Amino acid sequence: MQEIPCLSFDECQKVINSIDKNQQKWLPINFRETQEKLPFFSLGVGITYIVTKRYGNQTLGYSDWAKHENSWMLEEFGWFYDRVVSVLSHFLQAPVQFNSELSIPGFHIFLYHHLFTQPLGIVHCDRQHLDLGFSGKEADLENPISFTVSLELPKSGSGIDFWDVHFREIEKVSQADFIAAVKKAEHSYHPYSVGNMVIHSGYHAHRIAPVSQMQTSDRRITMQGHGVKLHSGEWLVYW
Ligand SMILES: [Fe+2]
Repeated sequence: MQEIPCLSFDECQKVINSIDKNQQKWLPINFRETQEKLPFFSLGVGITYIVTKRYGNQTLGYSDWAKHENSWMLEEFGWFYDRVVSVLSHFLQAPVQFNSELSIPGFHIFLYHHLFTQPLGIVHCDRQHLDLGFSGKEADLENPISFTVSLELPKSGSGIDFWDVHFREIEKVSQADFIAAVKKAEHSYHPYSVGNMVIHSGYHAHRIAPVSQMQTSDRRITMQGHGVKLHSGEWLVYW
């Protein structure tokens, strides 16, 4: 896991202002563990949420959603995406691009709820890239990245939980065996910092960490994305 500066505090605030301005476009996301409606939203579309049909009655497929959301988001957040691409490109030492068939990185928005003080986040390994075709382009599927930019965090902080369990160790086991492996494995917590980008492979088991001290005025707003290196040398970044 690596952490690098991406935005100043004022720049984060500028992104937050645009997110708030577009509140009518926030999409509610349901947690699998609870039937209760929780104030968790996305702005933009992650393939995880489309695949699992968690967008109410919407029936658009992932690419249609992506095209629809990408166009207004690139306009609204253009300077921000330029920055993300530039920071990633410097970090990866390679060109970074989006693809019109795939969603650009989007936002997770958590408002206060007492259940967010509990560990609701699903322990998982990121494997979305194994299901995407990348428009027929050959990609290195063994070395993906997942990245998060923190824009607004609860006053007591927030972050990501990791366990020392690798996707390739558990890809063929049952969910019960995966959970058993996680329970036995070494755990670590990485706190996020506003304005910083955290980059990891996505292949070690992880989850959104609970915010045990969350207060009613707190919000947790991050940008989320994934990437794969194409055989042509560029990185393709998506959500
Ligand atoms: Fe993940």
